[in-house]
Amino acid sequence: MPIVTSPDQFHMEDLYVDLGAVLPQQLFLKCEGMNFAGSIKLKAAVEMMDAAEREGRLTEDSIVVESSSGNLGIALAMIAASRGYRFLCVTDIRCTTSARQLMESFGCQVHTVDTPHPESGYLGARLDRIRELCASDSRYVWLNQYTNNNNWVTHYRRTAPALAGAFPGLDVLFVGAGTTGTLMGCARYFRWKRPEVTVVAVDSVGSVSFGGPADRRMIPGLGAGVRPPLLNEYLVDDVVLVPEAETVRTCHHLASHGYLFGGSTGTVVRGAVRWLAEHPQDRPRTAVAISPDLGERYLDSVYDPGWVREHYGPDALTPSPRDSFPADGRTGSTTGSTTASATGSPTGSRSGAPADAPDGSPAGSRTGSFAVSAAAE
Ligand SMILES: Cc1ncc(COP(=O)(O)O)c(C=O)c1O
Repeated sequence: MPIVTSPDQFHMEDLYVDLGAVLPQQLFLKCEGMNFAGSIKLKAAVEMMDAAEREGRLTEDSIVVESSSGNLGIALAMIAASRGYRFLCVTDIRCTTSARQLMESFGCQVHTVDTPHPESGYLGARLDRIRELCASDSRYVWLNQYTNNNNWVTHYRRTAPALAGAFPGLDVLFVGAGTTGTLMGCARYFRWKRPEVTVVAVDSVGSVSFGGPADRRMIPGLGAGVRPPLLNEYLVDDVVLVPEAETVRTCHHLASHGYLFGGSTGTVVRGAVRWLAEHPQDRPRTAVAISPDLGERYLDSVYDPGWVREHYGPDALTPSPRDSFPADGRTGSTTGSTTASATGSPTGSRSGAPADAPDGSPAGSRTGSFAVSAAAE
């Protein structure tokens, strides 16, 4: 029976959903939304706050400041409230109303950027705002999830070992890429401890993280308008890009089976199903995807028909035959219906990649290249 004395002490690490009955491919989902902050970002928030405290960067006058599309902001707002710090979150108009309200309920001040930077998009505009704040007042302490190694270290220490323990025969792991903290922590772990595991990154079409062209993205969590500084592509075996309309359809499909997951879970599940269909194998394979959060935070977006129609058109609400998952299990296939995928891997395997210390800093500069292709939906 877990008993906690602060809200960041509880996280359910070992909950998995077997999606085999609702998808055309066998896939387990590691659910990371079961904690008081409601998402996987609690882990990064705790690790970064603990490190800032250890390093003496936080005093009682400090105002913690961070850029977040929602979940890290909520987690930091919760921890700041619990530990007695002030917290200012810089977000943008894609942040859901409920995420903003949650942060404010914890006493957090929320700045919403409404104009994207001409080249680096909303994220660039958010980072500019934080730099201005830090330059204006020395009390601001920027944890900077985009460059903070603790953002991936927490997944190297916690998420990946939990997965490895739960699935000794793991073959493929699918991880969504936002800041790439989750991806890099898991990729480093499996590269060093279980190199036979294939690690596939899943990103949104319109994200520039893996070299694709920037385009409009409305679902928070995955994707970036600026290349993530934490990303080292040599540690990743493959990349799948998913259009947001497919994300929405996948979320609705899972909801029709009683699972209300967040937007990025829809992206990761869709990407996993496509990748598995495009990489058939003659023996059973163990595949796991990471689900960052649950769906209640997206009632006014992904699960709001008006919002979906406005941003993706009415088709996104009706699963077309090529996009629908068979309700009766693994009788169908998505093969041949690819609308977006990434092909290739850095030199076919990770063995030729430069060494990267298992618990140290990323090796070298970004020289790996994926042949990422994404057809329009
Ligand atoms: C819902 C959701 N999914 C995925 C991610 C991506 O995680 P990471 O930043 O570790 O890449 C985030 C990050 O904020 C998120 O909030």
